[in-house]
Order: sequence, then structure tokens, then C-alpha cells
Amino acid sequence: MNEFDWAAMADLLELDGETHSPYLEQAFELLEELNRPAPRRILDIGSGPGVAACRLAAAFPQAEVTAVDGTPELLARAEARAERLGVRLRTRVAGFPAGLAELEPADLVWSGQVVHHVGDQQDALDRLAGLVEPGGVLAIVEGGLPSRWLPRDLGFGRPELQARLDALMADRFCRMRADLPDTVAVVEDWPGMLRSAGLTEVRSRTFLVDRPAPLAEGPRQAVRRTLERQRAGLAEHLDADDVATLDRLLDPADPAGVDRRTDLFVLAARTVHFGRRPERCPGSREGTPARRWSTRVRR
Ligand SMILES: C[S@@+](CC[C@H](N)C(=O)[O-])C[C@H]1O[C@@H](n2cnc3c(N)ncnc32)[C@H](O)[C@@H]1O
Repeated sequence: MNEFDWAAMADLLELDGETHSPYLEQAFELLEELNRPAPRRILDIGSGPGVAACRLAAAFPQAEVTAVDGTPELLARAEARAERLGVRLRTRVAGFPAGLAELEPADLVWSGQVVHHVGDQQDALDRLAGLVEPGGVLAIVEGGLPSRWLPRDLGFGRPELQARLDALMADRFCRMRADLPDTVAVVEDWPGMLRSAGLTEVRSRTFLVDRPAPLAEGPRQAVRRTLERQRAGLAEHLDADDVATLDRLLDPADPAGVDRRTDLFVLAARTVHFGRRPERCPGSREGTPARRWSTRVRR
């Protein structure tokens, strides 16, 4: 599973998931329209601590919802969360991509920010599409825009710190992908890749997460945890002025730090790509996804 210690990231994943959850409400409304009749079985692949899975269970109370992840500690979080919220949720440990073959198909398969952690993304999508019952829907969250939390000029340090952090995070993302086992370079045309996985009626929708200042404690903590992670992982690539700025932002005693400043906000865009598995896939036996064209690239 690459450089990530997912279990150690549990708090951050849960806080971040809750902070960005307004986009889930909007995406699930669209899923309700697309999934008629209402789904009986739902899979959340790479559920992490279960923020989306629990919301799916609340939005589709008649369905059996299963949170699937490779990290048992995160699934334990998902179970505790479901109990706290009073929703029905099953969990299943599975490593991707191989473990997907052992899952029962579902009418709705959701996978948020997971496919990019798998070396061969087209293969992962093919397998996810293969988990969808004929007529059912696959929805993946990929792309979107990085979150913004801070004014361009903080009142100290060099303006545009977040732009520089975003550029370093983008580099790190490229290295993460390059280091994945069996990594395959591909044109990341998500709608095209869903079509290539045999899905039809493909569409993409981007949802805004807009939490204006002043921030409540939960989102404020999510920003702090993210900045701490960036400080730890990126400091060697930042100049001394930016490191000093980050230290000031993370100082709990500093009125200009993220714990106390009143101008902290969250603005983000999340893109969800939807596709339907045809009742019967043309050119394939048993309705299995037909690879029609390849988007793989040579480097
Ligand atoms: C970025 S988190 C996304 C969590 C959640 N879906 C969300 O949208 O907030 C990625 C999740 O995928 C899981 N994951 C990543 N690579 C995996 C793999 N190869 N096998 C199984 N799970 C994996 C991690 O454990 C983690 O929970």
C-alpha cells in the first residue's frame, strides 16, 4: 500500500471526510435519481473510516451497505461510527485490486479517492465496473480541485503559501503514483476510462464544499491536521520563510495561528464520475465489461 500508513491517518481521514461531507449529500441526491428502483446492495470501496458509507446507509436505509477497505483499523472506525449514528453497516477487509474479485456484486458501487492509489487505474475501474449488477451504477470520486483554507496574504510571510504547498503536493502525488506496484501511466480522462470499462450514460459532476469563516471546531481541526502533515512531509522542499510561516500557523498560542484566526475557511471542489453498467454489454459474454479502446500512454 505504498508510503501511506492508513491506520495512522484515521483521525485525519475522518475529520477530512466530515469537513468535505456536504458534497456527499449533493452526489447522493443525484445517485437517488440514477438508481431507480432504489439499490438493494451498495458497496463503498476504500471506505476508510466510513463517512461516506454511513451517509449512504442513511440515504438508502432499505439497502445493505458494505464498507470495504484494506485497513482493518479504519473499518473498526466505520463500525463505531455506524453504531453512533444508528445506521446499518457491514464491513469487509479486502486489498485492491485482487481482493475485489471476492466481493458480491451490488446495484451501486461507490469509491471515493481510491482508484488513484492503485497502480493500474484502468484495470481497477474494469474490476469495479465488474462489481456492478447490470443496470446498476458505479460512482468514483477523482480529480476535483485542492482545498483552500487561508487568505492569499496571511499578514505575515510571503503571500500565496497555499499555491506553493499545492505545487509540492502535486509533485508528491506524481511520485506516489510512480512508486506504486505495477504502475501504469494512463490519460486520466475519467469519463473515457469509465466508458472503456464498459459503462454507459457516463457523466461527471463537480460539487462545491463551501464552509465560510468562521470555521467550527471540526473543520478547523481538519485544517490543522492537514497543515501538520504538510509541515512534516514538505518542509525540506520549502524555503526557511515558508517553514517559519507554517510554524506560526501551527502555534496554538499565536493569535494568527489556525487554532485562533477568525478568517479560516474551507473551499473545495470534488468531482464525481458516474456510469451505468448496461443490462447487457455489447460484444461481451455475460455482460462483462468490454475494453473498447485503451488510454494507456507510453513514457
Ligand atoms: C484517501 S482514502 C479515501 C477514504 C474515503 N473513501 C474518502 O473518500 O474519504 C483511501 C482509502 O483507500 C484504502 N486503500 C488504498 N489503497 C488500498 C489498497 N491497495 N487496498 C485496499 N485498500 C486501499 C485506504 O485504506 C483508505 O481508507
